[in-house]
Amino acid sequence: MSEQPQTPEPPAPRTEKVLPRDKAPRFPGGPAADPAGSHHERRIRSFQPRRSRVTTGQGEYLERLWPVWGFDIDGLREIDLVEMFEGLPVVLEIGFGMGEATAQMAADDPGTGILAVDVHTPGQGNLLGLAERGGLNNVRVANGDAIILLREMLRPDALDGLRVYFPDPWPKKRHHKRRLIQPEFLSLAATRMKPGAVLHCATDWEDYAEQMLEVLDAHPDFENTVDGGGYAPRPAFRPLTRFEGQGLDKGHVVHDLLFRRVGHGG
Ligand SMILES: C[S@@+](CC[C@H](N)C(=O)[O-])C[C@H]1O[C@@H](n2cnc3c(N)ncnc32)[C@H](O)[C@@H]1O
Repeated sequence: MSEQPQTPEPPAPRTEKVLPRDKAPRFPGGPAADPAGSHHERRIRSFQPRRSRVTTGQGEYLERLWPVWGFDIDGLREIDLVEMFEGLPVVLEIGFGMGEATAQMAADDPGTGILAVDVHTPGQGNLLGLAERGGLNNVRVANGDAIILLREMLRPDALDGLRVYFPDPWPKKRHHKRRLIQPEFLSLAATRMKPGAVLHCATDWEDYAEQMLEVLDAHPDFENTVDGGGYAPRPAFRPLTRFEGQGLDKGHVVHDLLFRRVGHGG
C-alpha cells in the first residue's frame, strides 16, 4: 500500500494579542504608535511623526501610569468624558508638548478636568510623572491625532473649553496648509464645544496670530470675547509654556486669542 501524504498540522491558534507592527507600543501597556493608522488617511496632518528618545524615568511612568490615566486615540469608540472626569467640566488641550503648563493649570484649578492630547511620547511620560508627583487626579492623557479624537471619539457638546497653546507654526509658506487653526478645524471643534465654551489659542508667530484672528473672526460659530475685537491680554491663568519661553528668547511677541463658541442657531 502506498503511503498517504501527511496532512500538515494546523497552526496552533494565537492566544496573545498581536498588534500590527506600526501600532505596537514601545512600552508594555503604554501608548501605541499611530493608534488610528492616521498616516494611511489622505489628509494633511498638523504634526510630523517622530520617534523621540524617551528617558528611563518617562518610560517607567508610561508603563505604570498609562493603563490608568492614558488612552490611545484609535478612533474606534466614543469616550464618555462625564464618566472619565467624574462630572467635572472638561477642557481639551491640544499639543501639550512636555506638559509643564498643563500640570500647572490642573494644579491651579482642581475643579476642571484637563484632557491633554499629543503624539509626543516623551511628553506623555513627563506629564504622567508631573501629575503623579503633583497628586493631580484631574488630568488624562490621550495619544494620537486630536482631529480623530474630536471627529470620532468625542460627543457633541462634550467640551467646556479648548486650549491650543503654541501650535506648530509651520513657518514656510508651502507648509501653511499644515497649520492646525483653519476654518475646517474650527467647524469640527465647534461641534464638540458647548455653547459658551471658550477656545483659547496662543502663538509667538506674528503671521500665524494674524491668520488665527482672521479665521476666527470670520467663523460663524465663534465670537471674540474681547470688546472691540483683536487679541486678548494674556490671561493670568495661562502659565509660561516651554515653547513660549523659546520664542521669547528669540524676541518673538506672544498673542493670546479667546473666542467663545456661540449658541446653536446663532
Ligand atoms: C510647538 S509644540 C507646543 C507644545 C506646548 N503647547 C508648548 O507651548 O510648549 C506643538 C505640539 O502640538 C502637537 N500636535 C500638533 N498637531 C497635533 C495633533 N493634530 N494632535 C495632537 N498633537 C498635535 C505636537 O506634537 C507638539 O508637541
